[in-house]
Amino acid sequence: MDKKILEQLKQIKYPGLDKNIVELRTVDKIEQKGDTLQITLDMANQEAFPLIEGAIKDLLKDKSVEVLLKARPKKDIHYGSTARPNNRAPYAKNIIAVTSGKGGVGKSTVSTNLAIALAQKGYKVGLLDADVYGPDIPRMTGVEHEKLRWGENDKIIPSQNFGIKIMSVGLTTPSPDTPLVWRSSVAVSALIQFLEDVDWGELDFLVIDMPPGTGDIQLTMAQELPITAGVLVTTPQMVAADDVSRAIMMFKDIGVPIGGLIENMSYFITPDTGKRYDIFGKDGGKALAVQYDIPFLGQIPLEMDIRALSDEGMPPVALGKERHKRYYQDIVANLFDAVSFTGVRS
Ligand SMILES: Nc1ncnc2c1ncn2[C@@H]1O[C@H](COP(=O)(O)OP(=O)(O)OP(=O)(O)O)[C@@H](O)[C@H]1O
Ligand SMILES: [Mg+2]
Repeated sequence: MDKKILEQLKQIKYPGLDKNIVELRTVDKIEQKGDTLQITLDMANQEAFPLIEGAIKDLLKDKSVEVLLKARPKKDIHYGSTARPNNRAPYAKNIIAVTSGKGGVGKSTVSTNLAIALAQKGYKVGLLDADVYGPDIPRMTGVEHEKLRWGENDKIIPSQNFGIKIMSVGLTTPSPDTPLVWRSSVAVSALIQFLEDVDWGELDFLVIDMPPGTGDIQLTMAQELPITAGVLVTTPQMVAADDVSRAIMMFKDIGVPIGGLIENMSYFITPDTGKRYDIFGKDGGKALAVQYDIPFLGQIPLEMDIRALSDEGMPPVALGKERHKRYYQDIVANLFDAVSFTGVRS
């Protein structure tokens, strides 16, 4: 590829992201065809194509430029092989990244209960809270008053509860509610340190609770870790919103295999009568999964107990009623059907 042109293209940011199109390996080919410079882009997000095309033509306006979109083979569960990530966590056989387009849809609750459900099946599980600006995992797992400790090998000793190892920025601050005022580059290096300097031991699964959205932290994690499965959490009424689609598009563009989608707060069961109400509409998450051709992992209703237990550091999958346990255990079973994990039997 023409190095000079490639260098120039680094000035173009991927729409909506803080990374340039060269870093994200969006530029597939640069070829001189007669008088015309042909630039081929490899990307799943077709809506972003005209924006990048325009930016390239602006940047190279002294040349005759043609921008093409590389044809992709039909999509399946594993989206592309563009990502060749580092592996900062060679001790983990499988890495599950839990994300959502929007905040407050239940990522941390799902991450916590999913991690514990895996441990209940006998696997060695670590839970990393990558939501550095809103670390909720310590409270949800009842370790929020623990402080960071170092072992003899100069490695950080993770907290442990409910059979899983836990690490979060929330454990490094003087009190659980200390706000973090960090640039994203600092946040990213803290997470890399958690991957490299925490004494996780050998893990069958590292579950990562990602911050909401599609920013620097998500991208860095995808570049620094070979993520086995991205799991998306949504609520039924979010489906019309662009946020979830953006999260799906991002996974596809950066080559993270999508393990599936979970619909949280799907319906409401009244505690007194047990009657079901579809407050946010019915089956929106399922429809979205069909639309994007990704596995649907299950629905979790909106229940007061789930909120109350989570707030108390009593994860429903461990300390809730039988049906609470089943919600998350069924999701794990469906995830095992959708993804071939390394070195584990379902
Ligand atoms: N199925 C549910 N039923 C009732 N309450 C729930 C359910 N799932 C999550 N919650 C509650 O909703 C709130 C938000 O959930 P959670 O913190 O897991 O979301 P999040 O996506 O991680 O949010 P953030 O983007 O702020 O990190 C919490 O108080 C949690 O206890
Ligand atoms: Mg959260």
